[in-house]
Amino acid sequence: MIRRIDHIGIAVRSIDERLPFWSQALGLQLAGLEKVAAEGVEVAMLPAGAARIELLEPLGEDSAVGRFLSRRGEGIHHLTFEVDDIEGTLAGLRERGVPVVGDGPRAGAGGSRVAFLHPRAAGGVLVELVEHPARQDADIAPGRAVLLYLREPQEKLWGVLRRMDGAGVVLEGIDLSSFDDWVAQIERGEESVVGPSVLFVPMMRLEKILLDRSSGHLPSLAERFQRRTGRSVQDVLDGSSSAGA
Ligand code: CO
Repeated sequence: MIRRIDHIGIAVRSIDERLPFWSQALGLQLAGLEKVAAEGVEVAMLPAGAARIELLEPLGEDSAVGRFLSRRGEGIHHLTFEVDDIEGTLAGLRERGVPVVGDGPRAGAGGSRVAFLHPRAAGGVLVELVEHPARQDADIAPGRAVLLYLREPQEKLWGVLRRMDGAGVVLEGIDLSSFDDWVAQIERGEESVVGPSVLFVPMMRLEKILLDRSSGHLPSLAERFQRRTGRSVQDVLDGSSSAGA
């Protein structure tokens, strides 16, 4: 099942040269740059609502995007739909005789799995399908305490998940390395020096999301927080946001 348009891939000769139109003139925010060696491209991601624009600059002339540029010049390269179940979707398409590029899904950015349908299936439009990793665990939902593992640069964040979609994740939380300082500060009833903030993490920086849960005799971070401060995390976060309003 198709959920939505995930992104539109645009082939450019130079990200540096084309970025000002998208980021400055249109005001889209650059969420990140990533080299995807397997595809031979550097990718600039710019979220636009629930979808995003992907600028694709070839790392070499013999890459797919390099060949596209020499054949057709700059322009829209592919259109990507997010699906729930990429394998099931591909099987259904194959049954209908839709030509799929390659054998099956392969690894895409941010732990996703992607597949391409041959452009002859859609009158010259290259259609990509993507399944995002976070969809696979139904327990990971807004309101739950989670740990986020980020890459480039590597960071670990802890907090309460506020929103999650194909573009990324909104977390109200704190860098894991500051967690103890934050709790100690609340324990002592001090003015906040370190504290949680609401932040957006683009999907491409997300390595994994883990539920913050206890394992064996080790309490979850949310439980540790509650034991030490006598207050629930939700309570403290709601208190801090209403105090700031
Ligand atoms: Co793409």
